[in-house]
Amino acid sequence: MTSSTEVKSSKKPADTRGLAGQTVGDTQICQVSQTELIYRGYEIADLAEHATFEEVAHVLLVGHKPTADELKRFKDELVSMRAVDRGILEVIGKIARSEPSSDDAHPMGILRTGISLLSHVDPDCEDNSPEAQMRKSKRLLAQIPTIIGYGQMSCEGKTPVDPDPNLDLAANLLWCMTGEKPSELNAKVMDVSLILYAEHDFNASTFAARVIASTEADMHSAVCGAIGALKGPLHGGANEKAMAMLKDIDAYIAAGNGDVDSFMAEAFAEKRKLMGFGHRVYKNGDHRAGILRSWGLKIAEQNGPDAKKWFDIGDRVQQIMFEQKNIYPNVDFPCGMTYFVMGIPVPQYTPIFVASRITGWCAHIMEQHQDNRLIRPLANYTGPALTKWNEARS
Ligand code: ACO
Repeated sequence: MTSSTEVKSSKKPADTRGLAGQTVGDTQICQVSQTELIYRGYEIADLAEHATFEEVAHVLLVGHKPTADELKRFKDELVSMRAVDRGILEVIGKIARSEPSSDDAHPMGILRTGISLLSHVDPDCEDNSPEAQMRKSKRLLAQIPTIIGYGQMSCEGKTPVDPDPNLDLAANLLWCMTGEKPSELNAKVMDVSLILYAEHDFNASTFAARVIASTEADMHSAVCGAIGALKGPLHGGANEKAMAMLKDIDAYIAAGNGDVDSFMAEAFAEKRKLMGFGHRVYKNGDHRAGILRSWGLKIAEQNGPDAKKWFDIGDRVQQIMFEQKNIYPNVDFPCGMTYFVMGIPVPQYTPIFVASRITGWCAHIMEQHQDNRLIRPLANYTGPALTKWNEARS
């Protein structure tokens, strides 16, 4: 029994595992809240509508909206940095061709290896001065599409193409991956998706990058760690898994096993996690998801009923998740469908995320180095009690 002065709270204590709800540092780069996503003072819908990815990259890396001259210089510099060392490309091609179905040959693994190799030819690799960090950031931003494209073309047995200096970063990424000049709409949608993916404060991969940077390690090491964190299906890998789920639903319907509703009922009964849904911060919806869905839908509608069906299935999944679980899609859900109707191979979805988030990661690595203190939290020990070695039974 409780006395009137000892009223027990019926509220469960907050679950802070995974640092949920914990603020662990300051940043000037990005503000994430239930109501807004802001890159250095610019709201995401505003950026997606009015800016280009290169402008957003300038905002994140350099710190301000570029003038026309600054933007031209920035873009020219990026174009001039796109070529990747031939020896590195040969290694990328060899891995991509050799084991296309093994986990090690997953494009995220190839990209992680590629960044690691780039560190060996980067003259600034061990230099953590602000000027060297900026040069490395630009090289990484410029060269990641080249590596992604070379790996994809090699994996498909095609002859890789050189980056096209006449194309902006998004269009060049599509060109390098396919060897075909993208349509204006595909290039625009890729550009918007890169803007949406560019930055998200202390998400898992960025935090991993900051932890590594806080040891005063070099930028390439921090980026390799971030790629490893992004690869997981609870983070960036979800865009590939979201599309895999839609394909499973399509196959389930085609086999006469039922419809979207019965697939979802089975998923709920088995307590399956649905990829591309839920978010650690956004509990009322991810600001980026609706923006990307509407652009993806434009492509699907243009491509006809076979493309549009993925959005019809996705919309029903989304509706059921909302009605029955009150869980909203995150940006990875529409991303899966959008990249699919653009004809992009599914294993490249998360590497494309890297091509964008490299801007956020590098901005955070630079910010960490500017006012560094080693990131080293404490742990609450829950293991066995102290025992004398000679008295312990093995
Ligand atoms: N499918 C089914 N149920 C879910 C999902 C989901 N995708 N997401 C959350 N839930 C449920 C949980 O099971 C939990 O239910 P319970 O209270 O009955 O146990 C409740 O919603 C709260 O979820 P948490 O796991 O506490 O949320 P958390 O903040 O720890 O995790 C995460 C967030 C990892 C994103 C989670 O929602 C998830 O696994 N989603 C699927 C993977 C995904 O889409 N990741 C991409 C995130 S966005 C990005 O990285 C770009």
